[in-house]
Amino acid sequence: MNRMMEGVLPGLKTALKAGALAALLAGSGAAQSQSLAEDTYSRYVDASGSISLPQDFRLEWTHLGSWVVSEATAPGAGFHDVYTQAEAARSFREKGVFPDGAVLIKEIRSIESGAKTTGPALWARDPVVWFVMVKDNQARFDNPHWGEGWGWALFKAGDSGMNASASFAETCKGCHLPAQQNDWVFTEGYPTLQAPMVK
Ligand code: HEC
Repeated sequence: MNRMMEGVLPGLKTALKAGALAALLAGSGAAQSQSLAEDTYSRYVDASGSISLPQDFRLEWTHLGSWVVSEATAPGAGFHDVYTQAEAARSFREKGVFPDGAVLIKEIRSIESGAKTTGPALWARDPVVWFVMVKDNQARFDNPHWGEGWGWALFKAGDSGMNASASFAETCKGCHLPAQQNDWVFTEGYPTLQAPMVK
């Protein structure tokens, strides 16, 4: 090997390694979203498109944000906490959209109130209902609970094994219309989807 080649080779090797690494990283990104969809559609959705409520999401998943509807007679009265898989939140931060297989859960709990040393406080008690949306980029099901790129389900405490929603069109669509241009999600309430502001 001549002197010139000796000089060039290490650089070439580094470039090749960097290229290989980039390809590997890109590949693992695709593999990751692949596995999110695989995981979701094997665990929470059956072959006919029937959705079930994921268990223990409070511990395992990422909390996106909360809403409080404190008027007792309002349609959505209660404490609302919204969760998704950590991987789905990470992907949203990078790309600004929920990936195939992302699951959004809104848990509504009753409101408790009382005086605390902090002041007059409101806090969440027992779960009442869970609303679930499952991202579907492949129009997998011809089923009234699927539409507009999502699966839609509602579970009631005490009977959480059964989807209590009549259909997407009847139970969910009307109320979600204000968020239609935002992939049907009220992301303004989810600070976790933005990079943290640390000052
Ligand atoms: C009474 C109106 C109303 C109905 C009915 C309704 N939604 Fe929502 N939904 C909202 C609003 C408004 C938000 C965000 C603000 C809040 O929770 O107060 C929301 C939030 C959600 C969230 C959290 C993610 C997001 O989109 O911001 C999920 C999941 C959800 N709804 C699923 C459903 C499903 C599934 C149905 C039908 C079974 C449904 N919703 C029916 C009004 C409604």
